[in-house]
Amino acid sequence: MILKGKKGIISGALDESSIAWKVAEGCHEQGAEFTLTNAPMAMRMGKINELGEKCNAEVIGADLTSVDEIENLYKKSLSKMNGRIDFILHSVGMSPNVRKKKKYGDLNYDWLNKTLDVSAISFHKMLQVAEKNNVLNEWSSSVALSYVAAQRTFPFYSDMAEAKSLLESIARSYGYRLGKLNNSRVNTISQSPTITTAGSGISGFQAFFNYAEKMSPLGNATADECANYCIFLFSDMSKKITMQNLFHDGGFSSTGISEDIIEDFN
Ligand code: NAI
Repeated sequence: MILKGKKGIISGALDESSIAWKVAEGCHEQGAEFTLTNAPMAMRMGKINELGEKCNAEVIGADLTSVDEIENLYKKSLSKMNGRIDFILHSVGMSPNVRKKKKYGDLNYDWLNKTLDVSAISFHKMLQVAEKNNVLNEWSSSVALSYVAAQRTFPFYSDMAEAKSLLESIARSYGYRLGKLNNSRVNTISQSPTITTAGSGISGFQAFFNYAEKMSPLGNATADECANYCIFLFSDMSKKITMQNLFHDGGFSSTGISEDIIEDFN
């Protein structure tokens, strides 16, 4: 029970395949108390209420691009849990350009702004509103989920690559600020390709998933394994880890080529 006594907010659980869903189940098993949040539209379509019942967690709707809705989310969460929080999971991403199959050389710039707002700036908004409203306990831990396309080009990832670069930068900048403020921590986890609603929205995803599996000496990291890493980062076992982008990818990001891939070409 390494999260016993910890309180948090978990965003982005849509259905059982969501990474956030696994994080919520794991946090519950480890003794944490938390609220769940998702965009009101996704709450109608998804199964988040089922998860809420299972984890004894209140579900609070919030579009995380809206400062007002984040304020409401914190207000309700703090009153429900009777005190400030120790952890936040940002597990939110969406690109209208990717969804509507716009090519990288023909981006719709209004949609690019939407991609950045939903997938990256929303993390800044969560942290800024948290700071202004004194929501975070000392040594709190905030984690957002990223992808290696922030460092290296994966053509199918389109403008989500820009969003992930921005997300990782926000984690560094806000990690510094909150560290100075009250020893709070901010990190991103750069996760392997994972079969979820957001993941499989990317064209050629299955082929890439198989490629990454063969490239990584440990194979792709699963959503359950990602949840374990999040739990470790929320716990006091990781107190001095902050402002990092932490690869959780079975070794993919450090591998030039694997023997399995060479075999496929022979
Ligand atoms: P998912 O589709 O289950 O989760 C994405 C969530 O974002 C959904 O619950 C959706 O409702 C929510 N969302 C979208 N717009 C929102 C808004 N305006 N306000 C609040 N919530 C909103 O997919 P998954 O894969 O679990 O994604 C979670 C995170 O993990 C994302 O940041 C994604 O980029 C990241 N990630 C996913 C990988 C994958 O291969 N699936 C790999 C690496 C990172």
